[in-house]
Amino acid sequence: MSAQPQTSNPPANLGMQVTTFENPMGIDGFEFVEFAAPEPEVLHDLFRRMGFSAVLRHRSRDITVYRQGGVNFLLNADPDSFAADFARAHGPCACGFAIRFRKPAEEVRAKVMENGGETFADDASKAVPAPVVKGIGDCMLYLVDRYGEAGSVYEADYVPVEGADPNPAGFGLTFIDHLTHNLYPGNMQKWSDYYERLFNFREIRYFDIKGAKTGLVSKAMTAPDGIVRIPLNESSDPKSQINEYLDAYKGEGIQHIACFTDDIYETVERMRAQGVEFLDTPDTYFEVIEQRIPDHGEDVARLARNKILIDADPETKTRKLLQIFTQNAIGPIFFEIIQRKGNEGFGEGNFQALFESIERDQMKRGVL
Ligand SMILES: [Fe+2]
Repeated sequence: MSAQPQTSNPPANLGMQVTTFENPMGIDGFEFVEFAAPEPEVLHDLFRRMGFSAVLRHRSRDITVYRQGGVNFLLNADPDSFAADFARAHGPCACGFAIRFRKPAEEVRAKVMENGGETFADDASKAVPAPVVKGIGDCMLYLVDRYGEAGSVYEADYVPVEGADPNPAGFGLTFIDHLTHNLYPGNMQKWSDYYERLFNFREIRYFDIKGAKTGLVSKAMTAPDGIVRIPLNESSDPKSQINEYLDAYKGEGIQHIACFTDDIYETVERMRAQGVEFLDTPDTYFEVIEQRIPDHGEDVARLARNKILIDADPETKTRKLLQIFTQNAIGPIFFEIIQRKGNEGFGEGNFQALFESIERDQMKRGVL
């Protein structure tokens, strides 16, 4: 944590300082993620169960903006669009996402192109009128400069859903915390360079995670605002979960979308009540929390009941985060709900803790 955080819109209540650095383009958080699916109704249902409300609809096309706190999910069901083509190729998918800039988007686009960015031959069917460049897996990366006091990127083409609260609190999600991507083996350097070159991202963390049988490497690419975080995963093991994803998705793309909450218990309990399914965690994980993280101050019974995971920095064990992952929800894509309490990481300690808890469970069952 080197620098003071700059003022920026979404993380009003981040509960922490974030590491920031030179930000010539004025990167300022994620604006939205765009989704598509061969059967869009499934996604309408999913977003509602996660506490989102439809707040805006496109004037002439079948595109809906779902919102909860500062999180916007665009559901693009326009049958004649880039999104529909993307869904035909990948199945249910995250076909685009948007980063906000405090500089004019056209200026940013020109700079990105100068830095080696690529554009689409035809981007006429994009969901909002903002410049786009190619992201990982050829998804659309929108460059948005109309937000906050500058207005809204939806203004020109979208109308409010009748009777809807334009700023619903939903189940407490507040902003998009990170978008983790899965890459083909060997592509890590290419894509981390891409984000460094185009947007002045930095690699703030590197992990080499070894499970019992497979492993992966992960680079946490972070934008200068300290908020736009794009971790990249790669695995050379053909049986790894990363390569399973690549097979299922038929390409590189977003593995999970992490959304921040100020009260993870409340958020998860309300999602569970709506039938959102989360990854299970053995009870043995919760039995050793006190040993792993002394004086954590959390309600362990409530953590255990909801299967919420806790992690802390290895040095001081005082910078904590709480997190939980959903089951695969959109094809092989899943969601993470995260509450940071001074921790800028991604829950690395939980990989090892989960591995050990499964072993303890196996020992209890007499398997090991
Ligand atoms: Fe994550």
